[in-house]
Amino acid sequence: RLRKLAKKRGEFLYFAGGVVRDYLLFKKGKLNPQSSKDFDIVLEGNLEKFLQELNEDLNKEILFKSQFLTYKVRFFLDGEPLEVDFITARREVYEEIAQLPKVFPSNFMDDLLRRDFTINALAIGLSAPYEGLLLDLLDGLKDLEASLVKPLHLNSFVEDPTRIFRGIRYKVRLGFDFSEEFYQALEVCYQKEALKKLSSARLANELKLYLFKEGEEILLKLLETTYQLEVFKEAGLEVARENFPLLCEVLKEVKEEFSPKEREKVYFLGMVESLSGLERLGFSEVEITRIESLLNNFRGFYHKINTLSLKEKLEWFDKVRREYLCAFAVIFPELKEEIFRYLKVYSKVRPELNGEDLKKLGFRSGKEIGEILKILRLKRLEGKVKTKEDEIEFLKKF
Ligand code: CTP
Repeated sequence: RLRKLAKKRGEFLYFAGGVVRDYLLFKKGKLNPQSSKDFDIVLEGNLEKFLQELNEDLNKEILFKSQFLTYKVRFFLDGEPLEVDFITARREVYEEIAQLPKVFPSNFMDDLLRRDFTINALAIGLSAPYEGLLLDLLDGLKDLEASLVKPLHLNSFVEDPTRIFRGIRYKVRLGFDFSEEFYQALEVCYQKEALKKLSSARLANELKLYLFKEGEEILLKLLETTYQLEVFKEAGLEVARENFPLLCEVLKEVKEEFSPKEREKVYFLGMVESLSGLERLGFSEVEITRIESLLNNFRGFYHKINTLSLKEKLEWFDKVRREYLCAFAVIFPELKEEIFRYLKVYSKVRPELNGEDLKKLGFRSGKEIGEILKILRLKRLEGKVKTKEDEIEFLKKF
């Protein structure tokens, strides 16, 4: 239907970017089919009208329209949802270093030229006159075959320094190398201090993609590569490289249990050299101050941990949110075992009696009940009570 409509409207429709790159790699047996989930279709034409005209009986829903002439559309094919990004072929004009570009609808060639790397500037025609043809106007295929990440021009990272992070992701994810031109473009970018001008929100967002889009399996390599290229330094972010291996290990350990927001906190807190670095990642002053005072308290705790009883340790741990505890496990590696014992064992042990039971037993205030529950948990951890009956017995004597 898309093809027919493009033909009727005299507009050219094509696949471009990651979908073509990954399809070609898949065909060469260099990528498994699950690796590419994005599905970008570009139209050289009027996308709004095109989507309006798409046959009414083609059950679809426009989920999102972006400022970059892009639409996310959900189709229902035989009841199954399929999300597709529709993009208007466009030209981009970068007026200021590291700022988002102005975009203008344009033609196929401009749409290839606005892209980051040659391997992303490959297209496959979906409609006449190039239906079914691989369109390789910028030598992307050669670089794909040579496994090279090569920018389209040397000013590419000055215009958009987030491309450096994208390039690192391709190198590590696909096992590619950087071309000579990648290093040259990096040099130009450093000379113009473009990375420093990148907003905190965009910097944080790119680093989040390392964790959330690429995953823990290659996170260490991504961080190491970024460090070796001096990207953190150039972006004004001081990182604690020695933390990277433990940070990745900790993030892997909490993957199933923590929410993305919690994992993000562990990630950024564990990554920075000092807490003031969190500012560059968009943390507010209030939040940094709060974490600072927590960390200072924790330092006091850390120095005397070996002299503390289980009860005292639990009192400390109970006060700190679990994402901060995990970050502290990275900052104080000697405490990792202790913190994880708390997170995985101690914090999960619950008395069998609950708040309602305690009310029936005559305990009234919420605070009192909270305290009693903590005492019962401790007794359980110490092995002094094992059953609900033991707990009731203990409380009678209490
Ligand atoms: N692009 C770019 N500069 C950016 C972001 C994107 O030039 N800062 C271009 C790239 O050519 C990319 C295309 O826009 O191919 C679409 O971007 P995106 O959907 O983020 O990437 P994919 O091509 O789908 O590749 P992947 O998601 O695997 O990184």
